[in-house]
Amino acid sequence: MGLPEPPELGAAALPAGTYAGTTVFVTGGGTGLGKAIATEFARLGASIAVASRKAEHLDAAVADLTPVADAAGHGGRVMVTTCDIRDPDSVAAAFDAVEAELGLPGVLINNAAANFPVPAEEMSPNAWRTVVDITLNGTFFCAREFGRRHILAGVPGSIVNIGASYAWTGGPGFAHSAAAKAGVKNMVESLAVEWGPYGIQVNGLVPGLFPHEDMTADIKGNLARTHEKDACQPAMRVGRVRELGWAATFLASPYARFISGHTLVVDGANWQRRTLTNPPVVTVRDQMGMGPFTG
Ligand code: HXC
Ligand code: NAP
Repeated sequence: MGLPEPPELGAAALPAGTYAGTTVFVTGGGTGLGKAIATEFARLGASIAVASRKAEHLDAAVADLTPVADAAGHGGRVMVTTCDIRDPDSVAAAFDAVEAELGLPGVLINNAAANFPVPAEEMSPNAWRTVVDITLNGTFFCAREFGRRHILAGVPGSIVNIGASYAWTGGPGFAHSAAAKAGVKNMVESLAVEWGPYGIQVNGLVPGLFPHEDMTADIKGNLARTHEKDACQPAMRVGRVRELGWAATFLASPYARFISGHTLVVDGANWQRRTLTNPPVVTVRDQMGMGPFTG
């Protein structure tokens, strides 16, 4: 049977207008989970600012989020700004643009990340650097920009860093991303303590397996190697993207003000999975259908 399906898309647990008058800054909010999270904030009345690199993703954010904000009826607007989160100047410029148009964001969703499966022995130094730079450094640069502006303005705020469960377990085939996400989770704990006195709440949110059409070819290819995806989860199903959106809107809401420094896992218990028997070990190379390492 597995875990039941959630309510339909369009349902909301929080009161209508919970985010009316609040600007929510979502990195990578033009695709996949970032867009799903932005959608739920827009549904609750927020204005949304999406920051990422590619014009087609920013266009998709405007096209998909604007009708949701309009339908919410709280005057929420949608804007996009080109930004590479690896570059602190680009991050500062994006915050300037958002502040000028929508005011200081009250919520930052640090969602943008980079990942592709690769055996560690095949990983080039630049591949490692690129994933760590986007996923860990970029997340810090955005949090830093948000924190500095809030401390100077003397107004409270909320940060949600999107993580991954291999922050705790390690991630064979994803050594770069797993190490970066471990840093992201650790950063939540440091910043929550440092910035609590300034009214800034900092939490992590970890998705389990949430397939979506925007996944990169690398990630889709990896998933295609998995057998029946639902049957491989203790929940007997994968996540529905709105479930992550609901968790994010709760974590940043007034109803979760005393939750800070916490990382919430939304994965139907998949990361806790252990087996009674020890199945044979299959190397990452074999899992990826690769031959022997030749140097
Ligand atoms: C090995 C690879 C590789 C691959 C790239 N590289 N893809 N190495 N296997 N599949 C190497 C390149 O050869 C290069 O190293 C280095 O990585 C940088 O590549 P660029 O293409 O120059 O980088 P850039 O243009 O900055 O693009 C970054 C990117 C790209 C990470 C490579 O995929 C991207 O933009 N991704 C953003 C979206 C994303 O990754 N989404 C996934 C989110 S996380 P050399 O040595 O050749 O210079 C996620 C978690 C899922 O979804 C969890 C499991 C389901
Ligand atoms: P996705 O669709 O590939 O989204 C990644 C986003 O990050 C894209 O919108 C991309 O936009 C943006 N981005 C990448 N590099 C950037 C950079 N340098 N500067 C600015 N923006 C950048 O992936 P997703 O599945 O939605 O993942 C969202 C988050 O959930 C990530 O943190 C990921 O690690 C996490 N996660 C996802 C899953 C899952 O099952 N989907 C599981 C575990 C964790 P541009 O290309 O336009 O820059």
